[in-house]
Amino acid sequence: MTESSHDRLLIIDFGSQVTQLIARRLRELNVYCEIHPFNAVTEPFLATFAPRAVILSGGPASVFADDSPRAPAKVFDLGVPVLGVCYGQQLMMDMLGGKVERGHKTAEFGRAYVTAAQDNLPLLDGWFDAGPEQVWMSHGDHVSQIAPGFHVYGTSPNAPFAITADPKRHFYAVQFHPEVHHTPKGRQLYANFVRQAGFTGDWTMGAYRDEAIAKIRAQVGDAKVICGLSGGVDSSVAAVLIHEAIGDQLTCVFVDHGLLRKDEATEVVTMFRDHYNMPLIHADEADLFLGALTGVSDPEEKRKTIGRLFIDVFQKHAAEVGGAEFLAQGTLYPDVIESVSFSGGPSVTIKSHHNVGGLPEQMGLKLVEPLRELFKDEVRALGRELGLPAEFIGRHPFPGPGLAIRCPGEITPEKLDILREVDAVYIDQIRKHGLYDEIWQAFVAILPVRTVGVMGDYRTYDYACALRAVTSVDGMTADYYPFTHDFLSETATRIINEVAGINRVTYDITSKPPGTIEWE
Ligand code: XMP
Repeated sequence: MTESSHDRLLIIDFGSQVTQLIARRLRELNVYCEIHPFNAVTEPFLATFAPRAVILSGGPASVFADDSPRAPAKVFDLGVPVLGVCYGQQLMMDMLGGKVERGHKTAEFGRAYVTAAQDNLPLLDGWFDAGPEQVWMSHGDHVSQIAPGFHVYGTSPNAPFAITADPKRHFYAVQFHPEVHHTPKGRQLYANFVRQAGFTGDWTMGAYRDEAIAKIRAQVGDAKVICGLSGGVDSSVAAVLIHEAIGDQLTCVFVDHGLLRKDEATEVVTMFRDHYNMPLIHADEADLFLGALTGVSDPEEKRKTIGRLFIDVFQKHAAEVGGAEFLAQGTLYPDVIESVSFSGGPSVTIKSHHNVGGLPEQMGLKLVEPLRELFKDEVRALGRELGLPAEFIGRHPFPGPGLAIRCPGEITPEKLDILREVDAVYIDQIRKHGLYDEIWQAFVAILPVRTVGVMGDYRTYDYACALRAVTSVDGMTADYYPFTHDFLSETATRIINEVAGINRVTYDITSKPPGTIEWE
């Protein structure tokens, strides 16, 4: 649990695929919330957490199962508003004296329309103004009898109890998922719910920044902190925030492994050292990395070699700082949410994410992770709050192993030079056409084949490359970006005219799955 002076909303997770979206919707409303798995929510936990409101998430389980996931009955005695969503709705009815029945013909998946049954519920302000409202259903079981004190406020053809509430106790239960995009007025429903609960919307980035700075100062005291800076958004925002908190007690280490993009090292080092005046070690270790990668073409071996050397180099340079007690990392909220297993069984594995893998244990360092409560776009908002340049904040993700995994087969300095140039032209094209911010990630892979071409009157025998551009929300799934043919042919022409060594350009139209975003 995280300490916060804000009013907090507790989301009890029963394993729905979209629980994180509930948190997103609430954060968009400037409400501070945390997701905790049902099996971690005990009575003492509730007493300490002291939520101002509770949301029971959806989930794949059935309230009929022997070991069906439950919430402590105490949730309903806290005197705070409770909203049950899908499985949360069924659980609420089951626990409060209603009835739930198995699915069969009443199962509903996908789009449905809810019609108002009564219109005097503040939770539904702004709903039904234009008749029935579209919602997204995904349920097998259904409520067949509502609990005492509840009334029906909305029905759908297959869900007579689509929206029910006990307004006196501020208990609300909806069969559909208000958090998903396909329930267009879902955000409004959450806004009404938190307003009812008395939230003031004080979870702003300005407030977050001030609190985070105070917390970092309290945690670190006079000690020294080191931070592995990759130039990516997360580590950059973490570094600037910590620097604001403790100034030169922070030293950043930027490892240039020779696998960066064109001008990347200069841009990162200039910005942090010159613009922010931050103590920064620029570890130019290209020879070390490229030497160790000579002759290596297996993707896993490449990754392992880079990971191992990265730790060695980081340790060597961190020693120069002398007596650092803390390691700063840009760990985000999605990395720390405890997950609930599909079976609903107790699975409290915390996805621990080490940007600088293995270092904290090896070096006996304590962690400073000031972004642990934030989603990626909130990190970007914090970056803007801290005055980081917009083009830096909006940068596409770049993998730790860098160009090595965009160079299938053996890595050579020649291929890397060509790759850097092609990538620069491609990204320039994307920016010129105003597409950069629509694309989640765009890059080029240089292929380990030479092909025959003709330029002017000459035969060429040069490398082929593959352009990649994807849309994605979190990098877990992705689709290729639908460039126009004009864009693709203009880009291919520019690449072949401007970059020596490439005579053939292809566009990768593989989604993820089955492909991955990177080529290795
Ligand atoms: P894949 O290729 O697995 O990539 O679909 C998903 C996202 O993760 C990035 N990626 C990495 N990031 N270290 C990183 O910091 C890595 O080893 C690594 N491998 C892939 C990739 O660029 C994409 O954004």
